[in-house]
Amino acid sequence: MARKKIALIGAGQIGGTLALLAGQKELGDIVLFDIPAAEGTAKGKALDIAQLSPVEGFDARYSGSSDYKDIEGADVVIVTAGVPRKPGMTRDDLVGINAKVIDSVGKGIKQHAPNAFVIVITNPLDAMVGLMQEVTGFAPEKVVGMAGVLDSARFRLFLAEEFNVSVEDVTAFVLGGHGDTMVPLLRYSTVGGISLHDLVDMGWTTKERLEAIVQRTRDGGAEIVAHLKTGSAFYAPAASAIAMAESYLRDKKRVIPCAAKLNGEYGVKGLYIGVPVVIGSKGVERIVEVEFNAEEKAMFDKSVAAVQSLIDATNKIVGR
Ligand code: LMR
Repeated sequence: MARKKIALIGAGQIGGTLALLAGQKELGDIVLFDIPAAEGTAKGKALDIAQLSPVEGFDARYSGSSDYKDIEGADVVIVTAGVPRKPGMTRDDLVGINAKVIDSVGKGIKQHAPNAFVIVITNPLDAMVGLMQEVTGFAPEKVVGMAGVLDSARFRLFLAEEFNVSVEDVTAFVLGGHGDTMVPLLRYSTVGGISLHDLVDMGWTTKERLEAIVQRTRDGGAEIVAHLKTGSAFYAPAASAIAMAESYLRDKKRVIPCAAKLNGEYGVKGLYIGVPVVIGSKGVERIVEVEFNAEEKAMFDKSVAAVQSLIDATNKIVGR
């Protein structure tokens, strides 16, 4: 089987972690790309991880570059380019800088990696992935945003801690935009197959404690920003994007919440927002439409409205 190629656009904290995880999973050969001013960082991290591979015992070739020609023919491109937020900022505050970055990166990907499955991590996520799809002109199923996996992982962790059980036995997902209006769905979450509603009845927790976990999930990114002070989370975002890349490259058909372009599903058309999807070798192979009750629908609609206003802001910035 031909070796796969993975291009990582942005050699910052997430880019370096992505490079390490992609190698450890032997997903393919890795090109770590950054702008000329950061080419040394890309090359240095690539070489450092390549030198780690004999110790860890995995087979992946690494290179660092600031020349888009080097991403030629990439099977997967993961985009982290742009700036992270700092304490006191929302993800939306990044739109002014990051929209221009995504506009430019999208043109490079369109020219040099026209067949790639593109995963966007840059914030504000839903607007940036929408912009990426417009700039590249790629089919919507080949351009996705990483957010739901990350938000759901946080939700699962907090629930596992609440019940003092393994994270492996907690199923939970978060829909909607990757911002303050995200929608963690308590009703679709289970612990060992038992609904949270039943666990409240069994006295394992209370509705109030679950509401606090929902809010902590919504604030999950900001909690880490407040600790780090110099930037935002990188380990969990990188692992989340790698899960999506792996499902695509290995045709695993995992059901993963991520930002996908809706075409009438959930009553929304032409906008990227977090929903569960099946990711396989064709990209987004299916959008899973779960049923909402009135309260969930109202939360989801609010999230759609928030994403729409960010898209409007993005379009003004890049003159679309
Ligand atoms: C996250 O959720 O960790 C990322 O979106 C980064 C951020 O700014 O919170």
